[in-house]
Amino acid sequence: MRIIRTIPEIRAVVGAARAARQRVGLVPTMGAFHDGHLSLMREARAHTDLVVVSLFVNPTQFGPNEDLASYPRDEARDAELAGQQGVDILFAPDAAEIYPEGFATSIHVTGLTEVLDGAARGAFHFDGVATVVTKLFGIVAPDVAYFGQKDAQQVMVVRRIVRDLNLDVRIEACPIMREPDGLAMSSRNIYLDPAARQQATALNRALDAAAAVHANGERDAARIVDAARTVLADAGIEPEYLELRSNDDLRTLDRVEGDALLAVAARVGAARLIDNHLLKGGTGCDAPC
Ligand code: PAF
Repeated sequence: MRIIRTIPEIRAVVGAARAARQRVGLVPTMGAFHDGHLSLMREARAHTDLVVVSLFVNPTQFGPNEDLASYPRDEARDAELAGQQGVDILFAPDAAEIYPEGFATSIHVTGLTEVLDGAARGAFHFDGVATVVTKLFGIVAPDVAYFGQKDAQQVMVVRRIVRDLNLDVRIEACPIMREPDGLAMSSRNIYLDPAARQQATALNRALDAAAAVHANGERDAARIVDAARTVLADAGIEPEYLELRSNDDLRTLDRVEGDALLAVAARVGAARLIDNHLLKGGTGCDAPC
């Protein structure tokens, strides 16, 4: 596996692959790989010819009081893991390569970014994500880009950018990878001490409880959400948000008739965690890749 740090170099490699009629897969990441990231790489490896993983801790998607400085960074470990998945290129630019002096453009997606994490963290978050992902698509020009469904709202925002800007890339959303006790894998799980790690399992249990109520035929959104809220309360967790929204445009729902996204964010110990379940119109199970 090759590590590339500059835009001209990655363009040259991708250009050569394209000239050889190879399909290019991109896995955008901020590093600190866990099995969720690795599953995206494996998916890209299985379906594309040249697999590029970007590793860039994007400063513009972090707020002033967030964890940019402490975000886990270990490029050597990440490179080792990516190499084991058969990744061809680790694109690891520095901040000046992505945001050179005078950089003045921002991508803003209205509507979708104003709820859930956009409301909880602030508009800057999805503007930062949208801008860097659009840049990565411009730099790497992938045929397919792979994202984790744990960041369900991010996937929706990226799909909307692709649609609205007519970008020639297919977006694949891959299932949430979970620890054996159900905790969604996240680079931020390392912030959890043993007590918080145990407490954090309540997030998935809460979503499971709501999914069970839904699978039993309940269609009233407030009752479904209440089932999750009770589990969180029992675990001593006050969610930042716990909301059931439509899975196409994130509008609020009074009743759940089609696919709906039940999303939660909560501070547990030193970590801010997010998780979600997709309630399929009637069956209550997660989306496949
Ligand atoms: O999901 C992430 O790790 C980041 O938001 C992304 C998509 C790599 C953009 O910085």
